[in-house]
Amino acid sequence: MAQRKPRALVAGNWKMNGLKGSRKELAALSRLLERASGKPACEIMICPPATLLMAFREAAKGTGIKIGAQDCHVSESGAHTGDLSAVMMKDAGAKAIIVGHSERRADHGESNNLVRAKAEAAHAAGLVAIICLGETIEERNDNATLRVVGSQLKNSLPDAVTAANTVIAYEPVWAIGTGLTPTADDVKKVHAHIRKRLAAEVGDEVASRVRILYGGSVKPSNAVELMAVENVDGALVGGASLQAADFFGIISAYL
Ligand code: 13P
Repeated sequence: MAQRKPRALVAGNWKMNGLKGSRKELAALSRLLERASGKPACEIMICPPATLLMAFREAAKGTGIKIGAQDCHVSESGAHTGDLSAVMMKDAGAKAIIVGHSERRADHGESNNLVRAKAEAAHAAGLVAIICLGETIEERNDNATLRVVGSQLKNSLPDAVTAANTVIAYEPVWAIGTGLTPTADDVKKVHAHIRKRLAAEVGDEVASRVRILYGGSVKPSNAVELMAVENVDGALVGGASLQAADFFGIISAYL
């Protein structure tokens, strides 16, 4: 496979957390980054709830921290009460949108087809689609992890994938918010499988440059080990991204 060196991405998924006052965490993160002795060798992103996008866009100006959104409707506009489109997220300051998170797949019954349509909507708006994949504990216990993740990837992936417009996030469902993580060896196997399946879909060259993030109970204490795993190009962080000090601790794996 071609030489690959994608720039790592550490993205914080705030989920349904954060009110107006949370802007101070962004300011605190920016101060920690400023004071750091080196410049992190990764891109840094925070995906707050949609209500904070505009405020965060303003607060992040000049800090190098990018802002992303958490989900979108497949259409650009229309009669969809309560929904938000990718174009709207972009207008509010988002550079990327997380789609297919297991909480969306579980809480809202989102299928691979819908996830693919959402990723296409993100691309059409000129945004990066961060497409999430991951097996449940039952699937893991059945030794079905590679099959499940491979099938989610194949069926959630839009046609026009480039290394610039798509990021894959492997998030085992059983590792999210539980404090449990797969072993480094398990992560290595799944990420290698994702890279291989990606190459079958989009060709070696693009596949070698698409970033594959690991997510699920990433903390400052395990970030160095997880981020060092082959084919891990960064992290998608939930709980530990809410506090600037913890998030910075994870980013420090790239300092
Ligand atoms: P935690 O880091 O809280 O386990 O959440 C991971 C996640 O779901 C990020 O999208």
